[in-house]
Amino acid sequence: MAGPEEDRLAFVAFFQARFPEIPLAEFANGIYAIDSDARDQWLDIEDFPPYEFTIDAGETLWQDPFANGKTYSNCFADPIEDIRPQYPRFDAGSGEVVTLELAINNCRSANDEPLFAYDGKEITAITAFLAYESRGQKLDIRVPADDSRALDAYETGKQFYYTKRGQLNFACSDCHGISSGQYVRADRLSTGLGHPTHFPVYRSKTGGMVSLHQRFSGCVRDVRAVPFELQSIEFRNLEYFLAYMSNGFEVNGPASRK
Ligand code: HEC
Repeated sequence: MAGPEEDRLAFVAFFQARFPEIPLAEFANGIYAIDSDARDQWLDIEDFPPYEFTIDAGETLWQDPFANGKTYSNCFADPIEDIRPQYPRFDAGSGEVVTLELAINNCRSANDEPLFAYDGKEITAITAFLAYESRGQKLDIRVPADDSRALDAYETGKQFYYTKRGQLNFACSDCHGISSGQYVRADRLSTGLGHPTHFPVYRSKTGGMVSLHQRFSGCVRDVRAVPFELQSIEFRNLEYFLAYMSNGFEVNGPASRK
């Protein structure tokens, strides 16, 4: 069986062969790497980024001390720009994949603060701020070779990605792999390579920020399957696999999308 690194090289090679004219780093821009008309509109939007207020709100939340006087920085390693690129990570204590969102809530619970809702504004504000602080840093996702539970989590995520589901019977890889660049109704399909680099994302469709898991949830619903909970073990393992595939890509979140 191929290990994560062999998988990643094959994943990257697939998209490079499919889109030989696109520089590798561009895949982090999703559909705007492929569609030049959509790209022009997006670049106009980025002149006055719609996520700017969210970054500011996230910075305030990040610095605001808990009731016990501590702050988030007591839970996370220094320096701040190293935080985003290291998530999701495998946590040997719990034996599970911990995403940045989960780590934020774990920090709150360790400090006796109520948890943030995973579909709420606070959590995407903080992740937007942390992504912004890490812009240009490379994703550094690790699957520790000495812990078989980490490899199991990765393999479970990989299997999710390639499994057909829902009434439409589509796998993630059907749309974002072998059909990437093609149209489904009015939408052109982005590549799975680069998906986790730019979250959270401001969507003009909803006028608000969405997390990566909210996007997972939407795509699962679109194939008429029942989505898993945000931050469920299924979606965390899926994120682990997908983020590993984009290892070495620069963090470019937050971003804006249709
Ligand atoms: C029926 C086709 C289809 C399937 C299957 C599908 N998606 Fe999508 N997905 C879309 C479309 C359409 C969009 C919006 C256009 C784009 O960016 O690709 C999208 C967008 C996304 C985005 C946001 C892209 C960005 O640049 O921000 C992510 C992440 C994503 N999908 C992940 C997944 C995952 C993970 C799965 C499997 C659970 C999946 N999708 C299954 C059609 C699909």
